[in-house]
Amino acid sequence: MTKPVTLTDPIFSLQSLDKYASLMTTGNGYMGIRGSHEEAYTRQTRGMYLAGLYHQAGKGEINELVNLPDVVGMEITLNGELFSLQSGVIESWHRELDFASGELRRTVVWRAPHGGRFAIESRRFASVEKLPLFAMEMAITPLDADATLSISTGIDATLTNHGRQHLDETQVRVFGQQYLQGIYTTQNGRSDIAISSYCQVDGDVQRCFTAKERRLLQHNSLAVTAGQRVTLRKICWIAWTSERSVSLETWGQQSLQELEACVQQGYDGLLAGSAANWHVWWQSRRVQVTSSDSMDQRALDFALYHLRAMTPVHDERSSIAAKGLTGEGYKGHVFWDTEVFLLPFHMFTEPKIARSLLRYRWHNLPGAQEKARRNGWQGALFPWESARSGEEETPEFAAINIRTGLRQKVASAQAEHHLVADIAWAVVNYWHATGDMAFMSHEGMALLLETAKFWISRAVEVNNRLEIHDVIGPDEYTEHVNNNAFTSYMAYYNVEQALWFARFLQCGDEAFIHRAEHFLQHLWRPEAQQDGVLPQDDSFLSKPVIDLSQYKAKAGKQTILLDYSRAEVNEMQILKQADVVMLTYMLPWAFSPQACLANLCFYEPRTIHDSSLSKSIHGIVAARCGESEQGYRFWREGAQIDLGDDPHGCDDGIHAAATGAVWLGAIQGFAGVSVRDGELHLDPSLPDRWQNLTFPLRWQGSDMLFTITAAEIQITSSAAVGMWVNGKKTIVQGECVLKKPEFILSTNGTATTQGDAE
Ligand code: BGC
Repeated sequence: MTKPVTLTDPIFSLQSLDKYASLMTTGNGYMGIRGSHEEAYTRQTRGMYLAGLYHQAGKGEINELVNLPDVVGMEITLNGELFSLQSGVIESWHRELDFASGELRRTVVWRAPHGGRFAIESRRFASVEKLPLFAMEMAITPLDADATLSISTGIDATLTNHGRQHLDETQVRVFGQQYLQGIYTTQNGRSDIAISSYCQVDGDVQRCFTAKERRLLQHNSLAVTAGQRVTLRKICWIAWTSERSVSLETWGQQSLQELEACVQQGYDGLLAGSAANWHVWWQSRRVQVTSSDSMDQRALDFALYHLRAMTPVHDERSSIAAKGLTGEGYKGHVFWDTEVFLLPFHMFTEPKIARSLLRYRWHNLPGAQEKARRNGWQGALFPWESARSGEEETPEFAAINIRTGLRQKVASAQAEHHLVADIAWAVVNYWHATGDMAFMSHEGMALLLETAKFWISRAVEVNNRLEIHDVIGPDEYTEHVNNNAFTSYMAYYNVEQALWFARFLQCGDEAFIHRAEHFLQHLWRPEAQQDGVLPQDDSFLSKPVIDLSQYKAKAGKQTILLDYSRAEVNEMQILKQADVVMLTYMLPWAFSPQACLANLCFYEPRTIHDSSLSKSIHGIVAARCGESEQGYRFWREGAQIDLGDDPHGCDDGIHAAATGAVWLGAIQGFAGVSVRDGELHLDPSLPDRWQNLTFPLRWQGSDMLFTITAAEIQITSSAAVGMWVNGKKTIVQGECVLKKPEFILSTNGTATTQGDAE
């Protein structure tokens, strides 16, 4: 495996401070620390978040991911002048996030307004080896003349979530003139956070400490000779508990001991440990592409880095927020994004992480059952947005419509119910990929049964058939419709699978089996027209069509809502995101390639792609239909959502689902990996720009490695796997090379071709 690439921040610009703060978040699934600069800028939003640490700031507010006290900020003065890149001259600049090691680095040569150049180098990382550990280093060298410098840094608890303060400052202390510690308690008293920090500066330094206005700081000043490099090292331990069994004092001391042990190893030692862990991680996950555009490999490495940094593998009571741990967008809530866009990567590389994400839903079944019951249904209605407890967290109102001055209601919590079936879909996928019977017979079955019971009770009888009314499909610009195709097909699949597993595992009672059979016999699902187009819902095709080109040109910005109210948008053929196309992605076996293409061609011109969950799915469906160039265009545009030129597109955090979809696009789109009837299929169709695509995959306990070129497919498998390659059943084991066009085995492994797929 070659080394993952780096992401560079090309230029210091006030415009893109928050974009790069999101993109360059250092994280480890336990915490995320935005890539803000050490020095302050008014337009820069600092952020440090712990997965699963939510709190509601006050009445009428919403549970949100708490923005913790800051440890990154430093006030640096050089010869009495405040270091800020808004003044003086930047003589050189380099900033990069190294995906291979997780280290963020910056090197600047700065000419101060009153003369004198300084080299300012900083680096930092969040450890993947010791999750509560965050370490940073700042080195300053006066290049022209002797200088005085001072650096103040510590723990700054004035940070808020855009003004909403969640934490009380419970205790701040300095231990042994070396260690700072702030203990903070969420205002509901349920969680304590201890931030402990050690800061050491080389040389003959004068130090003092202050604790004022929620800032606990260490001030360091010293005189430096020209050319002398002074280094400040700061090592922090960020602990969190909501189940403290010892006194606050003892718990705080435990954190200090952890920190002391880290301090002994020093920044470089700690980084080496974490980087070695990253190295091993990449070896079994990296997707390598030989493309005429180097951006493609960068997009893949970026995606995988963040897929790790956002996923709380240590805690199955937490899941992945829509912006990961990179910002406060969507308040840190969890959506269907997790099961549909993020879970597949884990399921195909380290299935126990997928299991843990599914167990998050399983733990939250009581909340989902309660939501169903409150609304008069049975089974489990999972909340559209959730945090830790599994209760519904969707805000009642969205942003103000500045044209009408009215607040727009968010209807998703009431009617966007497809999430229930999406979770069931993920459970079944997990089972096929792993054959994990222990999970399936317990948590998996509970999830399947409860979700199926929900749909059975959700359907209404109309003229001797069952229909699903008043829902919102994935397309959130079309609300409160009857018989949304996506929802109805997915609900059918959910009940069908629950019934199949109930029989297979002999665990559903007679009443359930009877009701499920009745549901499957009577549920009405929209039928394709003669041209293959599946109506999105009962009324969609009778609505007027308008020219969307100006809105499509600004995809993601929701500019249509500046010209039309939501109610008006609802009455036109306008999609926010893939809906029927999404369905053809999720249940590919249910639609012929011609039908998939017909729906892609019909719905795409009507889709603005105002959600980041849209383009990539169009790309996968296009690639699966053999339209790999169209697929590539969508894939690229999907990858550009965060990495593209827009300076504000991800200010409040990267788009986690779009990140997952970069991986999905390569594997499920261009490599053509799919699972049908529980069997693995590979139908590659590389875009012209790609000469080679290599990726690992874990399938039912076998470690596999695929390399695809225009001429051949190489497959290495640690055990015998029966799979379909380009429509032919093949058993692969060891190292096999299948040469196009006949896919004949040509090397030392075993690849037995058995027949054509249906
Ligand atoms: C999309 C949803 C998505 C959510 C979080 C919304 O804009 O319409 O499908 O789950 O963002 O990413």
